[in-house]
Amino acid sequence: MKRKLIAGNWKMNGGLVANEALVKALIAGMGTGTQAADVAVCVPAVYLASTQLWLGASAIQLGAQDVSQHASGAFTGEISGQMLKEFGVRHVLVGHSERRQYHAESDAVVSLKAKQALVCGITPIVCVGETLAEREAGKTEEVVKRQLAAVIHDNGHCISEIVVAYEPVWAIGTGKTASAEQAQQVHAVLRAQLKAATAHADRMRILYGGSMTAANAAHLLSQPDIDGGLVGGASLKSPDFLAILAACPC
Ligand code: 13P
Repeated sequence: MKRKLIAGNWKMNGGLVANEALVKALIAGMGTGTQAADVAVCVPAVYLASTQLWLGASAIQLGAQDVSQHASGAFTGEISGQMLKEFGVRHVLVGHSERRQYHAESDAVVSLKAKQALVCGITPIVCVGETLAEREAGKTEEVVKRQLAAVIHDNGHCISEIVVAYEPVWAIGTGKTASAEQAQQVHAVLRAQLKAATAHADRMRILYGGSMTAANAAHLLSQPDIDGGLVGGASLKSPDFLAILAACPC
């Protein structure tokens, strides 16, 4: 079985004091033994430097929540992949639905961001997912396939280096989780799409995100095409995040 990845997305939460306490509690809770899964925290950009220091040599990998589609230059407010790399960033979210919704990020922009991450040796976690209206209109497959197709098209032979995260928009922060069966169905569609693009699709990770909790994680993570979780709210409380990690099948 493939090793799972449990990634926390802190979104725009926390502060210096709370974040240090959270990281230290996670490190203490994980202990020094072998972990059941790879673990990452995707932190607000201003905390990358501090978080890198707090994480030290721990098993938790550092992640960012966004990256510029450009390599460098006159793009005020943006942060490049090279800059992220300087702070030890291993993963970066691209195309999170909140970026698509509130910052009008198109499929084309998302795929350029994934490319910048790959060029800099950072793993893009490419988020896809349908809104409730799209699901109710029977468009779930069409939407997620369109979102992923753009990234596959622009990243060709590097595509096996990405991580995909299926995050149904209606399940994010709502307490409404997709059932394990609903999620698996979409993950299988995404896996088939990756298989058509690369011979390495079986070793690629497809994460589920959307109200994942300690209570539902084990069932979700036991599905054949669910290779980990992208966790929002529950990643802000160390006991909850650690319980999700503990729910990973070994
Ligand atoms: P919640 O776990 O809070 O629903 O958020 C999911 C998410 O958006 C992770 O990127």
